[in-house]
Amino acid sequence: MTTFTINGQAQSFDGDPETPLLWYLRDVAGLTGTKFGCGMALCGACTVHLDGTAIRSCQTRMGDIEGRQVTTIEGLSPDGTHPVQEAWRDLNVAQCGYCQVGQIMQAASLLNETPQPSDADIDAAMSGNICRCGTYPRIRAAIKRAAGGA
Ligand code: FES
Ligand code: FES
Repeated sequence: MTTFTINGQAQSFDGDPETPLLWYLRDVAGLTGTKFGCGMALCGACTVHLDGTAIRSCQTRMGDIEGRQVTTIEGLSPDGTHPVQEAWRDLNVAQCGYCQVGQIMQAASLLNETPQPSDADIDAAMSGNICRCGTYPRIRAAIKRAAGGA
């Protein structure tokens, strides 16, 4: 039995410990904001927070989250007003939208750790989050806005 929290709510899982967290989130918990992209830690679509730090839920085993706190896009803020979400809306970052939840969760993790990131910090943190629509310039601008810039 693995016990953990998702968005502040206690949960338990007694299935195969090899089950990917992403499967649990979408198919058991019904939290479908988090997306499946590659399943191989190559795209970032499945990014959530584990104890406040961005991780790839497609490559995180349920057996490895005992006692940990998982946060998904549904729990990033109670009303969608996290500074990263506000900046994303203000700058109309999304195009098709598929990658954007992962981008937002990655960006929020970056700002948790580095409140005033440089361009190099942003490049380093965001390089594993792929956007086939090429919204990278707007993502960078929105991260700077969320950090208190223009
Ligand atoms: S689905 Fe997890 S990184 Fe692509
Ligand atoms: S907005 Fe379409 S993949 Fe990023």
